[in-house]
Amino acid sequence: MMTAPTIDAGFGPDDKRESNEQAAGPKAIPLTIRPYQPADEDAVVDLWKRCKLVASGSDPRADIQRKLTVQPELFLVGTLLGKVVATAMAGDDGHRAYLYYLAVAPEHQRRGYGRKMVTQILNLLRERGCPKLNLFVSLKNPQVIAFYEHLGFKQNQMVSLGRRFRG
Ligand SMILES: CC(C)(COP(=O)(O)OP(=O)(O)OC[C@H]1O[C@@H](n2cnc3c(N)ncnc32)[C@H](O)[C@@H]1OP(=O)(O)O)[C@@H](O)C(=O)NCCC(=O)NCCS
Repeated sequence: MMTAPTIDAGFGPDDKRESNEQAAGPKAIPLTIRPYQPADEDAVVDLWKRCKLVASGSDPRADIQRKLTVQPELFLVGTLLGKVVATAMAGDDGHRAYLYYLAVAPEHQRRGYGRKMVTQILNLLRERGCPKLNLFVSLKNPQVIAFYEHLGFKQNQMVSLGRRFRG
């Protein structure tokens, strides 16, 4: 059976490192991270499309609207000089948490911003008492597994199943 890898991070001391923004050089602008605001919608959808995170048949604007009704404080954007260049969306189901829509604009990747977004999500979840963060990686996007493993995530020996609700 083909299935998307699932990956998790148990919360430990090794995710204390904040980012490698310094490693990107003195010209790297510090990323500002804040909760999503409705005015960000167009920029966020454009970012997700450019990062190829919008699957055919899915509706990113509907995803955003629904997220605003469930733990909106776990939907973050990263900005540079006020422009949205990164996102991360998490949800805590009371047992585990899941991460979705982690994205950094292609022209700003490899500057530590992805790590910083994940670290902020981990910090928020740790504050809530959540013990573990899981995420899915599409089989069409295997190169991102190395990124997560570099950040301390481990592949779960599990199969992911899902079912859509109709009507
Ligand atoms: C995945 C993504 C968010 C990473 O963001 P980023 O800003 O480029 O990552 P960072 O610069 O913060 O990298 C953090 C660390 O991971 C490493 N890393 C980044 N991408 C990597 C890759 N593809 N393979 C291995 N290591 C990687 C970096 O070298 C860095 O290491 P260091 O902190 O030891 O110096 C970004 O590539 C992206 O938006 N991709 C498209 C959308 C996507 O696939 N999202 C994930 C959906 S599951």
